[in-house]
Amino acid sequence: MRIEDPKIVAALPELGVQLKSGTSLAGLTSLGIGGMTDLLRIEKHNAIPDLLNLLDGQGVPHKFLGGGSNLLVGDGELPWVVLQLISPEPDIVLEGNFALVDAAADLGRTVTFCAKNDLGGMEGLIGVPGTVGGALRMNAGAYGMQIGSYVREVKLYRAAGRKLETLRGHQISFEYRHTSFAADDMMLAVKLELPSKPYREILKGIRICNEKRRASQPLGQKSAGCIFKNPPGASAGRMIDELGLKGLSVGDAHVSDRHANFFVNSGKASAKEMLALIADVRNRVQNSFGVILEYEVVVWNA
Ligand code: EPU
Repeated sequence: MRIEDPKIVAALPELGVQLKSGTSLAGLTSLGIGGMTDLLRIEKHNAIPDLLNLLDGQGVPHKFLGGGSNLLVGDGELPWVVLQLISPEPDIVLEGNFALVDAAADLGRTVTFCAKNDLGGMEGLIGVPGTVGGALRMNAGAYGMQIGSYVREVKLYRAAGRKLETLRGHQISFEYRHTSFAADDMMLAVKLELPSKPYREILKGIRICNEKRRASQPLGQKSAGCIFKNPPGASAGRMIDELGLKGLSVGDAHVSDRHANFFVNSGKASAKEMLALIADVRNRVQNSFGVILEYEVVVWNA
């Protein structure tokens, strides 16, 4: 979707919002898949309510983009614009055991920055691509931990009240790859409380998680991490593997040879191809195991 309305175009600079006309979302997602739209990059959190009133008032639909690492975007000209935060400088501020982190901060950098300051707990998240905001929204987790356990406060734009709000940790529910945030809420910043640990001990944990990940996941290839959630008490990857589906493909969309719950784009896969592969695998798992796999990846297919 292109913003052509002169009223919006004229108001954007005053709000500190940059307009990147005709942006390919393939370049902004780890899967390397996605069509074209206008991208609005936001410098100041305080501008968000006015920006959204302006867009809604002119009938311009929008979506919020984090790091694009858990996202499958549709092909072609997309029927909504995309909003993304610009990371401020600094994007992580430490106060004792608290880390105040902007939602646009890189997750891996946040884990290592806190580690270097003797704050641990998030070792398992090393190697998970994306932003802190994205990790928060999905309650990202790995190797027995989840980010939600460390959340004490979240600043967000709440679509329901159309305003900025700060929620305390106990007001948010964090479950397996799911939170109580609404789909159109926008994460802005988080206050984490992290346990004190000497850097060299945290580093040991980080190295172990890195090795495990390298051994079992197709790092360096274009993917969105795990495509399906694990059903209770089972592993989606193991089920897909047991059906012999590693390497199954539709065009350039493949089930990874390394981890069967990772689907990779080996070249120019389209969303249509990736979605066809996902549907095929899902049907086969349902037919063989009687289990309907839920998406872990977020799909923006207009
Ligand atoms: N397995 C297979 N074949 C495969 C993949 C896995 O047999 O192709 C088996 C493994 O041998 C193991 C079991 O399945 O016995 C579980 O595999 P793994 O340890 O790789 O963990 P997972 O359940 O597949 C989950 C998360 C990952 C996270 C890892 C490590 C989900 C959907 N996935 O994977 O998170 O990195 O544990 O904690 O919860 C993600 O969220 O995108 C993601 C990749």
